Amino acid sequence: MHKSVKDIISKKKSGKKISVVTAYDYTIASLCDRAEVDILLVGDSGGMVMLGYDNTIPVTMEQMELFTQAVSRARQNALIVGDLPFMSYQSNISDAIANSGRLIKAGADTVKLEGGSEMTGTIKAIVETGIPVMGHIGLQPQTTMLSQGYRVQGKTVEEATKLIDDAKALEEAGVFSIALEMVSHEVAKIISDSVSVPTIGIGSGKCCDGQVLVIHDMLGMYDKLKPKFVKRYLSLSEDITKAVKAYRKDVELGKFPSKENWFSMDKSEFEKLRKEID
Ligand code: KIV
Repeated sequence: MHKSVKDIISKKKSGKKISVVTAYDYTIASLCDRAEVDILLVGDSGGMVMLGYDNTIPVTMEQMELFTQAVSRARQNALIVGDLPFMSYQSNISDAIANSGRLIKAGADTVKLEGGSEMTGTIKAIVETGIPVMGHIGLQPQTTMLSQGYRVQGKTVEEATKLIDDAKALEEAGVFSIALEMVSHEVAKIISDSVSVPTIGIGSGKCCDGQVLVIHDMLGMYDKLKPKFVKRYLSLSEDITKAVKAYRKDVELGKFPSKENWFSMDKSEFEKLRKEID
């Protein structure tokens, strides 16, 4: 049986940290699930690392459904959070409910959406349908990036107060957890101490109740951006390029394939074939 929202919330209550990684495809999701992370987040960051967009704005519901279906086929243990892409929930509540339902039908257990107090009506409506929601404040790639670019949130009293108020409003609206992206660590600690639901930080310091990283960043597979908050556990981009180069050279030099990589006919059958051809 895989993890539930209740299991995630009870980790905060018992002081245990929550581990989250993003996943978008069957193979990587299987490996992450085997590593016993708590949550697989099918993030709209998949638009960048899987599809090559410069940001998450172009990501569609169809693409998120495809990623979610692949991840759900792999999952045995983790809770799956499906990310609602840009403009799938902002324009009206009935779209937000319908699109949340699409991600649940694709295999997500819960959905995530970006925004603070202005999103509470939408969150309440989705939660009322029975779909658990993860909030997302701080840097919001779908909107903050458009107006302010890539910068740490909550460095002034005014910004910090707004973030703390937003977190409380999301809790009140019924979210089961809140992602905090690039929030100063002091403010992330205040928020984590003042809401009962778990906070999941990305670039928001160690006092959050859990941490999330984009899997391509932590495995060193995505070279376009190198945020300071990422810890690289592998350098797969170098290893993969090296391996493919070695393969290309083997093919060019006739070193691949060799005997152990091909299939042979039975000797007597081959003799018969020879005679037939001759
Ligand atoms: O899409 C994503 O990967 C995310 C995380 C950065 C929280 O939303």
